Amino acid sequence: MTLAGKHILVTAGPTHEPIDPVRVLANRSSGRQGFAVAAAAAEAGARVTLIAGPVALETPTGVQRVDVETAAELADAVFAALPADVAILVAAVADWRVEPASAKLKKGDGPPTLAFVPTRDILAELGASTSRPRLLIGFAAETERVVEQGMAKRTAKKADWIVANDVSGDVMGGARNRVHLITAGGIEDWPEAAKEEIARRLVERVGEEIG
Ligand code: CTP
Repeated sequence: MTLAGKHILVTAGPTHEPIDPVRVLANRSSGRQGFAVAAAAAEAGARVTLIAGPVALETPTGVQRVDVETAAELADAVFAALPADVAILVAAVADWRVEPASAKLKKGDGPPTLAFVPTRDILAELGASTSRPRLLIGFAAETERVVEQGMAKRTAKKADWIVANDVSGDVMGGARNRVHLITAGGIEDWPEAAKEEIARRLVERVGEEIG
C-alpha cells in the first residue's frame, strides 16, 4: 500500500491557553497517538504535515512539523497547510480559552474569575469548508457512551470517519488505546493495541479508501 503523492495533515497533542504570562489551561493529551499516525502515514509514503501542540516528542522521520501553543494557532496552521487529501485531527484542542491577563495574577488579589470564550472548532470548520480534504477524520475522546457520542460528532462536524476512544482510564498519556472506527458503513470495534498499531491500521484503511 502506498500513499505516495498524497498530502496528509495530522494534528496532535494538547493546546495551552494562557491565563496570564506564567499560567495556562491545558489537558492530559501526550500527543503519542497523533505522532504515531503521522509516522505511519509517512512510512506509507505520504507527504505529512504534523501540527503539534506542546509535547515532548521527537518528530517522526520524513514528517514536516509545525509547533503551536493555542487552539487559535492550531486552527491557523491547519488552514495554512491546506490543500490536503486527508486530514486526521487527533489533537485534544481546548474548547474554551480565556482573555489572558497581561501581567501575572497575584495571589494576594484573591482567586480570579475566569471568563471562558469558545475556541474555533477546526474539525467542524473543515467539514463545512470549500477546501475540505477528501477524507476528513476526527477523533472523539469520551468518558461515557463512547460510540453514541462518536456517531453524533461524525454527523455534527461532517466528518467522514470518527475514531472514538474511551479516555476514562489512562489512555491520555498511556501507550495503548482501544478505539471504535465509525464510518458511513457502520461501526468497527478494534481490539486494544499499542498506539502505533492503531495508527498503522488507520493509515492502511486510509490507503484503501483513497490510494
Ligand atoms: N476538535 C477540533 N477543534 C476543537 C475541538 C475539537 O478540531 N476546537 C476536533 C478534535 O481534534 C477531534 C474532534 O474535534 O478530532 C472531537 O474532539 P472532542 O474533544 O472529542 O470533541 P468536542 O468537539 O471538543 O466535544 P466535547 O468536548 O463536548 O466532547
